Amino acid sequence: MFPTHRPRRIRRTPLLRDLVRETQLHPEDLIYPMFVQETAPRPEPINSMPGQMRHTVDSLVAECEKTAESGVRAIILFGIPEKKDAVGTGAYAEDGIVQRAVRAIKERKLPLLVITDVCMCEYTSHGHCGEIKDGDVANDPSLDLLSKTAVSQVQAGADLVAPSDMMDGRVAAIRKSLDREGFSDVAILSYAAKYASAFYGPFREAAGSAPQFGDRQSYQMDPANVREALKEVYTDIEEGADMVMVKPALAYLDVIRAVKESTNIPVAAYNVSGEYAMIEFAAKAGAIDRERIIREVLTSIRRAGADLILTYHAVEVAGWLKQ
Ligand code: PBG
Repeated sequence: MFPTHRPRRIRRTPLLRDLVRETQLHPEDLIYPMFVQETAPRPEPINSMPGQMRHTVDSLVAECEKTAESGVRAIILFGIPEKKDAVGTGAYAEDGIVQRAVRAIKERKLPLLVITDVCMCEYTSHGHCGEIKDGDVANDPSLDLLSKTAVSQVQAGADLVAPSDMMDGRVAAIRKSLDREGFSDVAILSYAAKYASAFYGPFREAAGSAPQFGDRQSYQMDPANVREALKEVYTDIEEGADMVMVKPALAYLDVIRAVKESTNIPVAAYNVSGEYAMIEFAAKAGAIDRERIIREVLTSIRRAGADLILTYHAVEVAGWLKQ
């Protein structure tokens, strides 16, 4: 009871606050998402994501050098192909845009892990994450496309693969295919609890991957559910996921916490494009203190239980953390 208890005693100075801080951000725990485009002759700014680019292979490699220097240890790569078709051929083409980009990055021998996003929606003409049959995404035929994609990305040099499609059984299918091709050491970071979220809007503009009909609610999760997220996570772990992800992050902190408490593998959270855009546009309008908000948001995601955070602010934040 007051005056015995004075919680302010340990908040009095920066040194004291540093001493008792419970949650820290580290550059090594951040993963930087990047876009690489097949056609553009030069890097193009993404209007809905101020500060982010659709890279050429050359500008991507330069950005990777900057990323490695910043202390960030991993990127996740999204490809935007020249041509799209019904079965997303560009996703698993040997000279596909992601495959070419991975080879170019790996040639530099940077201290940087290259994670590739395994999904069909950037490569299909209909913009869905698998093959369409009878007006809906057909689960089992899509597993072949996803497995081929993962194998071809790893053949190009990807260090980890991250399936984001939300088909049932994709982790098992990808694990089996990688093992069969001699890649039993390559880990899978599964987008296990991925919600059907409006927060992906800017990404879909960036990648030109908005569904051409319908939406993704028959495969991505209902934002109202949290127990179902645990089922998805357990299933993926049983199928061989080495790490699991919750996505988006900020509106799903309770899901991150629940997943953290019921698993013993690394938990990642994706601070997605819409979360990024909200900060950037609010800051441009002068409504918020940009740097403090970014730090607070990322700290809250760590505090909720994320071991790793995918964020478009990764490189900039790593710079702040170094100081
Ligand atoms: C591919 C994929 C998406 C994102 C990551 N992988 C888009 C989607 O599911 O529509 C979104 C990332 C972001 O919004 O930053 N399926």
